[in-house]
Amino acid sequence: MKLTFRQGVAGLYRRLRRLGNGPTWRKILRHPSPQIAAIGRALRETGSGRLEAEERRRVQAIEDRRQFLLQSSAAVTFLDYGAGSPGAGRTAAQMREGAATTLPVSTICRSSKSPFWALFLFRMIRALEPLSCLELGTCLGISAAYQAAALALNGRGRLITIEGARDIAAIAGETVQGLGLSGFAQIRIGPFHESLAAALEAAKPVDFLFNDGHHDGKALLRYFQLAFPYMAEESIVVFDDISWSRDMRAAWREIGRDKRVAVTIDLGVIGVAVLSKGLSRQAFSLVWP
Ligand SMILES: C[S@@+](CC[C@H](N)C(=O)[O-])C[C@H]1O[C@@H](n2cnc3c(N)ncnc32)[C@H](O)[C@@H]1O
Repeated sequence: MKLTFRQGVAGLYRRLRRLGNGPTWRKILRHPSPQIAAIGRALRETGSGRLEAEERRRVQAIEDRRQFLLQSSAAVTFLDYGAGSPGAGRTAAQMREGAATTLPVSTICRSSKSPFWALFLFRMIRALEPLSCLELGTCLGISAAYQAAALALNGRGRLITIEGARDIAAIAGETVQGLGLSGFAQIRIGPFHESLAAALEAAKPVDFLFNDGHHDGKALLRYFQLAFPYMAEESIVVFDDISWSRDMRAAWREIGRDKRVAVTIDLGVIGVAVLSKGLSRQAFSLVWP
């Protein structure tokens, strides 16, 4: 892998450590639950940037694809079923119908998870070895490729990923296929209010859910309620962009208050909720600016 990528993640890792998160992190790393300790190790290994040779090859191939998309001069016209920007103030009806939008592929690609957070997903999947993963919000397929690559390296498991915009999903299809990951990731097209129920049915019991689509607090809670009965007894829900807006923060706090959620780990950008009947309730916070 190019040094720049590793330097980038190592820089973030140093920032995390500097912020005095040490004691909380140690509690996570030494947690009696193997799941929680594995999430802690996944974060530590993400920060170190260390990868085995085959992991490095896969990650580099995904990052090359990201660079290609970032340099693309193409544009896509699509219906955006999301919240737009934090201040866009779209109504529930507008989000349900979708807003007609035209954007360059390079701009769309900037909403993909950064190498650091995408690698964190990869590391969690390598460590937890989920059999069934579900992603809300495929976009161009970058985070899906990281998750599918981890499943490929695990040698088992599959990812179903959902995207509302057909033409964006088509590019994601090229991403997944070009990286040789079609056997591990299936892309489904449709707004979540139409497509999520069937995807949950196909993916149940879901071991690992990554929610990175609709950045609206009410929608996030609605999809969580819908997904909960399909989650495996011991499973993980990763919520992206929990600090994106007040609304998303409030929704994340509500997830933390939900009695069915055993442990939450607040990483500022991302929130990890652990579902497990055997664990006592606990909330960890490792937040940086
Ligand atoms: C932030 S991007 C996902 C980035 C992707 N996970 C990655 O890191 O590579 C969010 C995607 O979710 C899709 N999306 C947002 N709201 C949606 C909804 N209600 N139904 C279906 N797709 C939606 C958008 O079209 C967009 O492509």
